[in-house]
Amino acid sequence: MESTVAKIQRLKKQHNAAILAHFYETGEIQDIADHVGDSLYLAQMGEKLENPVVLLAGVVFMAESVKLLSPRKTVLVPDLNAGCSLVDHSPYDKYLAWRRQYPEALAVTYVNSSAAVKSITDVCVTSSNAEKILAAIPKDRMILFGPDRNLGAYLAKKLNRDMILYPGSCEVHVLFSAKRLFELKEKHPQALVLAHPECDEAVLKQADVIGSTSRLLDEVKTNTRINEFIVATEDGIFHQMRRARPDALLIQAPAEGSCACNQCPYMKLNTLDKIVHSLETLSPAVDVPADIADQARLPLDRMMAITAGKPVTWPGRFC
Ligand code: 13P
Ligand code: SF4
Repeated sequence: MESTVAKIQRLKKQHNAAILAHFYETGEIQDIADHVGDSLYLAQMGEKLENPVVLLAGVVFMAESVKLLSPRKTVLVPDLNAGCSLVDHSPYDKYLAWRRQYPEALAVTYVNSSAAVKSITDVCVTSSNAEKILAAIPKDRMILFGPDRNLGAYLAKKLNRDMILYPGSCEVHVLFSAKRLFELKEKHPQALVLAHPECDEAVLKQADVIGSTSRLLDEVKTNTRINEFIVATEDGIFHQMRRARPDALLIQAPAEGSCACNQCPYMKLNTLDKIVHSLETLSPAVDVPADIADQARLPLDRMMAITAGKPVTWPGRFC
């Protein structure tokens, strides 16, 4: 009988499809993917690939970004329910009302947002390019940053730049416990603490390295003087970390209580069986209505241009 992995390989060939997977997917999904990465890398690869079909094993906003950047491709997601708490915290009407309070400001929106919210945004950022994007914004422009308040507060402090923050958060990263992290550090004084900027400030204060998933993975790969790492991000990242550093002790930062809350419930909706089904039926495919897509593409294009070192122009007053 044909194995699940063999089925995926056959269907990929049949449809000339590529599979992209985020670091938070399970190890078995990362292993069948053509490319694994953080949200910026997946958006860049999705745009660059020539395959007419791209299956994104991640969450829906990531697939929407690929679709917005490459409208002619069929972009599949294994499960359309793979949402994100940041998307849930920033419904279009609420974000629009907030944005309207500051019409002179530029709206900088984390890619962890819906296409509709992107359509009322001036520039998008990911956690790996946010500093570069913010540095490109003229100093005399007021900045709105949403929907992740922790990432926004971290960037405002690091860049010494005032920003008005939208009050959203990631339900996974806010559950890392500063108190329990402090206790764990006492037991592992040699360990380097790595944290994603979606964590609360009290956790970030204890971190030696703060960055995107790919930045944290790079630290583990390249910092060979260190053999112990405490990692405050979703546990899918350990798959690549363990592979890169089998010699190192890799400990996940503790969450509040005894829940499995440092797993993203949305990322973990994806399974190999759902990937087979999606490639067999070419569904579910993400679709963004044309009127929203035309506007939502602009902040993503601006983000990609600045990331590539190209100049951009900034819009005036929001109306
Ligand atoms: P990265 O951009 O660092 O991959 O993060 C995406 C994300 O959803 C973090 O929770
Ligand atoms: Fe969204 Fe948090 Fe899951 Fe990332 S880890 S996809 S921010 S809910």
